[in-house]
Amino acid sequence: MIKVPRGTEDVLPEKVELWHHIENKLHEIAKTYNYKEIRTPIFERTELFQRGVGDTTDIVQKEMYTFEDRGGRSLTLRPEGTASVVRSYVEHKMHGFPNQPVKLYYMGPYFRYERPQKGRMRQFTQFGIEALGSADPAIDAEVIAFAMDCYRSLGLQSLRLVINSLGDLESRKNHRQALMDHFTPYKDELCGDCQLRLEQNPLRILDCKRDREHPSMKAAPSILDYLNEESQLYFEELRSYLEKMDIAYDIDPTMVRGLDYYHHTVFEIMSDAEGFGAITTLSGGGRYNGLVQELGGPETPGIGFAFSIERLIMALKAEGIDLPLEDELDCYVVSMGDEAKKEAARVVYDLRRAGIRADKDYMDKKMKGQFKAADRYKAKFVLVLGEDELNEGKITVKNMQTGEQKMHSLEKVVFYLKEIMQGGRQHG
Ligand code: HAM
Repeated sequence: MIKVPRGTEDVLPEKVELWHHIENKLHEIAKTYNYKEIRTPIFERTELFQRGVGDTTDIVQKEMYTFEDRGGRSLTLRPEGTASVVRSYVEHKMHGFPNQPVKLYYMGPYFRYERPQKGRMRQFTQFGIEALGSADPAIDAEVIAFAMDCYRSLGLQSLRLVINSLGDLESRKNHRQALMDHFTPYKDELCGDCQLRLEQNPLRILDCKRDREHPSMKAAPSILDYLNEESQLYFEELRSYLEKMDIAYDIDPTMVRGLDYYHHTVFEIMSDAEGFGAITTLSGGGRYNGLVQELGGPETPGIGFAFSIERLIMALKAEGIDLPLEDELDCYVVSMGDEAKKEAARVVYDLRRAGIRADKDYMDKKMKGQFKAADRYKAKFVLVLGEDELNEGKITVKNMQTGEQKMHSLEKVVFYLKEIMQGGRQHG
C-alpha cells in the first residue's frame, strides 16, 4: 500500500469543513484590516531563499526541498512566504503603487524538510501577511493585532503574546560582538552547530535546543541592553500602541526568531492550553527592513507574520472549541419505482439550480435505506416521491426538525423550498 509521504497528511472530507470555516474567517479578517490577497508560485529560484531567508538559518542549511529542473535551474519548494512576497513586490514595482503601505496576505502550502512531530510537518499551510512601505510602529501594532484577532475570532483564549526587539543594524552589530565575546570562552562546550553559529551568526545560539541548558546561556548579553536610542524609542512606541489597544504582551529578550531578516520588532504568539504539545509557538513574525533592498528593490521597510493552520487546529482542539460547521444537506429526495426515480433526478437538478443543497440515492436502495442516508447527511427536508404522488403530480415534503409533513405540487415544490431556505439562511 502506498501511503502519504512522511510529514504530510490528507485532509479528509469530514475535516475539510473545518478548514473552510477557518479559511473563510481569515479572508474576512484580512478584508476588515484592508489587506489584499497575493498568490505566488509554489516553487521559486533557490537563490531567493538563500538570500532572503539567510544562508545561516536552519531553513536554508537543512530544510529546503531543492531540485534541479530539466533546464538545469535550481528551484526550491517555498519554505516560507515573506521572501516570495518581497520578490513579487520588487518585480512588480509595488513601491510605486498609489496605496501605501502595500498590505498583502497569503494562504497556501509551504514545505520544510524537518523531523516530523506533532505540529511540525513537511508540508504545512501558512496564512501570513506582509505590510511593506511603512516604518511607523503603529503598523507593527496593527500586524500584531491582526495576528491576535485571527485566533480570538475563532474563540481561542489561552494565548500569550511575546515581543522583543532585535534593534536596527547598528544595535544588532554591537550585540553580535557582545555575543561573540561572551560565548567564545565556552566554544568547546557548545554543540557543533553552535560552534559554527559563533562565527557565522551568534544570535542563533540563543535559539539552540541542545545548548539551552548550558550555564553560559543565562548570562548571555541581552539584545535589549544593546539597543541604540532610535531602536529603543521604536520599541517603546510599539509598546505604547499595544497598551493603547489593550493587547497584553510579555517581553522575552531571548526570543530571536529563526530567520535572518528581522530588525526591530519580533513577536510570537504561543498557546498556553494544556495538552497543546511540546511546540507551543502558534505564530511568528517581525520587521524586516533590509529585505527589499537585499532582493534588489529600493530601501523599504516591511513587517509581517505567519502561522500554520495545522497548529491553529491543534490549539482549537486543545481548548475544546467546536466551530459551527455547515455540513448539512438541505434536501434529500427519496423515490420509489422507475418513473419516480427519473422524476427525482429532475427535482434534485432543479433544487440545485435554485441554490439548494440536494442529493438523492444512486445505489438502488430501498425506501428504508434512502431514509437512513438522508439521516446520515443530516438533511433538513426529505422529499418523498412514490408512484401515487407522481400520478397526482405531487411530492411529499417532510420537515425533519419538526416532523411536519406536507404535499406540494411538483411544479411548485422548488419555489416553496427556496423561500424557506432563504428565510432560514438569513435568520440562521
Ligand atoms: P516561521 O516562524 O518560520 O516564520 O513560521 C511561522 C509559523 O509557521 C510558525 O509559527 C508555525 O505556525 C508555522 N510553521 C512553520 N514551520 C512549520 C512546520 N514544519 N509545520 C507546521 N507549521 C509550521 C516565517 O515563516 C516567517 N515568514 C513569518 C513572517 C512573515 N515574518 C515576517 N513576515
